[in-house]
Amino acid sequence: MARVETSSNRPYHLVIFGASGFTGQFVVEEVARTVSEGPKGNLKWAVAGRSRQKLEKVLEQAAAVLSKSELRSEVDIIVADVEEPDSLAAMCKQAVIVLNCVGPYRFYGEPVVKACVENGAHHIDISGEPQFLEGMQLNYSSQAADKGVYIIGSCGFDSIPADMGVLYTKDQFKGTLTAVESFLTVGSGDDGGCIHDGTWQSAIYGFSDGQKLQSLRRKFNHKPLPSIGSKLKRRGSLFFSNEIQQYTVPFMGSDPSVVKRTQRFLVEEHQDKPVQYGAYAGIGGIGNIIKLMFAGMMFWVLVKFSFGRNLLIKHPEFFSFGFFSKAGPTRKQMDESSFQFAFYGEGYTDGQDPSQGKPNGKICTLVQGPECGYVATPIAIVQAALTMLNEPTALPKTGGVYTPGAAFAKTTLTDRLNKHGIKFSVV
Ligand SMILES: NC(=O)c1ccc[n+]([C@@H]2O[C@H](COP(=O)([O-])OP(=O)(O)OC[C@H]3O[C@@H](n4cnc5c(N)ncnc54)[C@H](OP(=O)(O)O)[C@@H]3O)[C@@H](O)[C@H]2O)c1
Repeated sequence: MARVETSSNRPYHLVIFGASGFTGQFVVEEVARTVSEGPKGNLKWAVAGRSRQKLEKVLEQAAAVLSKSELRSEVDIIVADVEEPDSLAAMCKQAVIVLNCVGPYRFYGEPVVKACVENGAHHIDISGEPQFLEGMQLNYSSQAADKGVYIIGSCGFDSIPADMGVLYTKDQFKGTLTAVESFLTVGSGDDGGCIHDGTWQSAIYGFSDGQKLQSLRRKFNHKPLPSIGSKLKRRGSLFFSNEIQQYTVPFMGSDPSVVKRTQRFLVEEHQDKPVQYGAYAGIGGIGNIIKLMFAGMMFWVLVKFSFGRNLLIKHPEFFSFGFFSKAGPTRKQMDESSFQFAFYGEGYTDGQDPSQGKPNGKICTLVQGPECGYVATPIAIVQAALTMLNEPTALPKTGGVYTPGAAFAKTTLTDRLNKHGIKFSVV
């Protein structure tokens, strides 16, 4: 039986590793805002990273944003470097949960997972990299289970809204839900919006290594999931969506991989009926199609060669039409940005036999929230951690490597997210 020991003698409930990163600094602010939601209204936490000086600055900035005189007296600093296993072990021994914000995860993630498993700390990350996430499942599931440790990946915008959104849609449907398509739209204010370079680098290396993901998947030797209801048809690579009234492309992030893994877990562990899933993202009008095609072509060519990858890494703004930048979004851009997932589901209503005929019921739900990368992501990872600390008995019975949906299906994570601005509703 796995245990989340909040009253153990580990000094910290949470240690934020990579707190000095672009995303890490916002995770620090979000933890500081929510300390009263910790076990018994209290949260003991520390920040960790490879530079003490940078971490001190992050705490100073977070205190200023939260209008506090200082945070340093209540938050400790741990110096740890991915390249130094002893420092990772020392960090993990002090934490109930490590919130890992150090990416790209394909380069830096595994030593942290390993140190957590070996030293009995639970691990939550914000990776959107299927190769890392599935690789950790393949390599660490049984060790994590033996140690009673939960390794929960993709707890940021990738892929909590999609994964929990599919579960929410399934819960709200009166009958057996068999298929869902999600349509993501992102809004911004007059200054537009952008994503920080850290995610751009993760995407570059992810795309350049796509073939390895296929061979990794074969190693799982999975049986196909049972098929229930009509087979969900794949849409084209560019189409006008009547659902969101704009041109739309398949969503290239980790959501389809994560949702599928969750559905497999629910079928295998809870004998649930699987939900088929298709993920799409709105791109707007004709002008954006031209930009996307141009940027996409350059990306596909350059990402295959090391000199091309270096070019992409050096000039994110140029090659992404400003969608990614080394500076990341400003606070104003973040304040004015938002996202919406619309989930269109179909299934068999109560009383209809799912093995007979075509699905006869439909449902539409929404998950809406603030800016994806640096507002919604910190909310999602911090609420995931608080759920683990406050609802340990609602987690899967054994430790292991889990998706958010698999880990949190029986918890109140969705309600917690609702209270913090990531809203789930039925249309
Ligand atoms: N799921 C989502 O929706 C979502 C949203 C945002 C970000 N992310 C992911 O989060 C990751 C971080 O993104 P970011 O934009 O915050 O990147 P970033 O600003 O480059 O931050 C990277 C962090 O990793 C630390 N680091 C690098 N090498 C290290 C080492 N050897 N030992 C210890 N720490 C090390 C850096 O420390 P220093 O400060 O000392 O350099 C920094 O704190 C990326 O993988 C990104 O894709 C996901």
